[in-house]
Amino acid sequence: MAMPAPISPASTERADATIRASWCSPVSPSGVAPSLLHQSARMLSLLISGFTSPPTMAAAPSNLPVPVPLPRISAFERRAFGMFVHWGLYSQLGQGEWVWTYHQQVRADYAKLKDSFTAAEFDATALVGAAKAAGMRYVCLTTRHHEGFSLYDTRGLNQWDAPHSAAKRDLVREFSDACDAAGMGKFFYHTTLDWWHPDFDAPGRWQDYLDYLNRSVELLCTRYGRVDGLWFDGNWARKDRDWKESDLYALIRRHQPEAIIVNNSSTGALGAEGHPEVDVRTFEQGRPTRPNRAGKPKWLAAEMCDTINSHWGIGARDLSHKSPAQIIDRLASCRRFGANYLLNVGPTAQGGLPGYDAELLKLVGRWAAICPAALYDARPTDLVGRGQDFIVQDGSTYYYWCHNLPIHGNSHLLEGDSGAGLKTIAGTLPAVKRIAWADQPEIDLAFTQDRAKDWLTWQATPFPYGSQLVWRIAVIETAG
Ligand code: GLC
Repeated sequence: MAMPAPISPASTERADATIRASWCSPVSPSGVAPSLLHQSARMLSLLISGFTSPPTMAAAPSNLPVPVPLPRISAFERRAFGMFVHWGLYSQLGQGEWVWTYHQQVRADYAKLKDSFTAAEFDATALVGAAKAAGMRYVCLTTRHHEGFSLYDTRGLNQWDAPHSAAKRDLVREFSDACDAAGMGKFFYHTTLDWWHPDFDAPGRWQDYLDYLNRSVELLCTRYGRVDGLWFDGNWARKDRDWKESDLYALIRRHQPEAIIVNNSSTGALGAEGHPEVDVRTFEQGRPTRPNRAGKPKWLAAEMCDTINSHWGIGARDLSHKSPAQIIDRLASCRRFGANYLLNVGPTAQGGLPGYDAELLKLVGRWAAICPAALYDARPTDLVGRGQDFIVQDGSTYYYWCHNLPIHGNSHLLEGDSGAGLKTIAGTLPAVKRIAWADQPEIDLAFTQDRAKDWLTWQATPFPYGSQLVWRIAVIETAG
């Protein structure tokens, strides 16, 4: 049993004034994958141990082997938090990205939207900067959504693209350059469902449509430097078609062998496993579940994409915006299982970031900066915390994600939750050396460890008066 410093009210008060967010291990400023050296050391230790999970984790529920994640997939999992951007001609109508289908009266004049699409407020550098400040490590832009309009130069495939609009610019080029300059993960969303292209639903023209789709994707793979991921969406709309995914993915692998491939399984099939070349299971506005990878041929990452309000494309009459607390909570629900969280913004008609979205990103970013090590690099464990709490691990450091803590001294203001107090962790942990809050690192938290019984009990103190961080992270240093 370790003997931490006793907790005194005085020491807690003292710390009130000095909350800071700097104790956790630094993270790579580029926000991309750790060094190859680090990766290969990790892979080596996994291979030696024969498991993909850290040795302290409980055994997989079956005896079947768990596959080792490919380096690109581990790197993607460490990106953790991304920005989705839904922007297109439809943004000018302010009724969501499905307006073409649900308000069919707009179709007569839809083509004219191209002539008023100036992109005057589209500032890719500012957009990528907002993502970075929010703690996001990749941005996925709708280079073409279901309306069929491309934000990139289709180089003659058709004229339904940004260079032929009032903008007269290749907006994907601007986005790509901004990602490169900021070291931001560059992901291209591309629709497969196409309401515009004449071949899409024309009898006998299916292969022509696929050729068009593949040539479009080939442009994205060859004209914008390194692409970190391609995110497809729409196969679910025509389940009876032969999408010939192998052809599409082969061309991606040819030009961008390290790109992550996503193909949205959609709301009707959350977490479904797709084609063998696909790297990620998607949970569109769902909640990732605990993965069972035993016996699987490939380690798949998981990602939940989500809206800030109730539409992906901007909705002028949509007032259902989520709060920062809800967003942090949803991010936590992903990281509990090692899944990524891809949060959407819907820029305005001419490409600006709506005010609420911008503020929300700033607030969430303040949370993300408190303990980057717990958010990005740490991996799920099978250790059991209290209630919704969960524990992730990076090397010898464990991070206890703690929910529902009350605020010190606030019990007369709020219905105090009993979340503070003794917390237990059940499961095998190395000898614990120290526990402290990530936002209050100078104060030791009391704990008792019984290693024979695989049991750790520690004292979770309330938030100091004046703070409420939604999810609070305790850093547990071990001798491990
Ligand atoms: C759905 C919608 C689409 C949106 C996507 C994001 O599939 O069709 O509008 O782009 O979800 O995941």
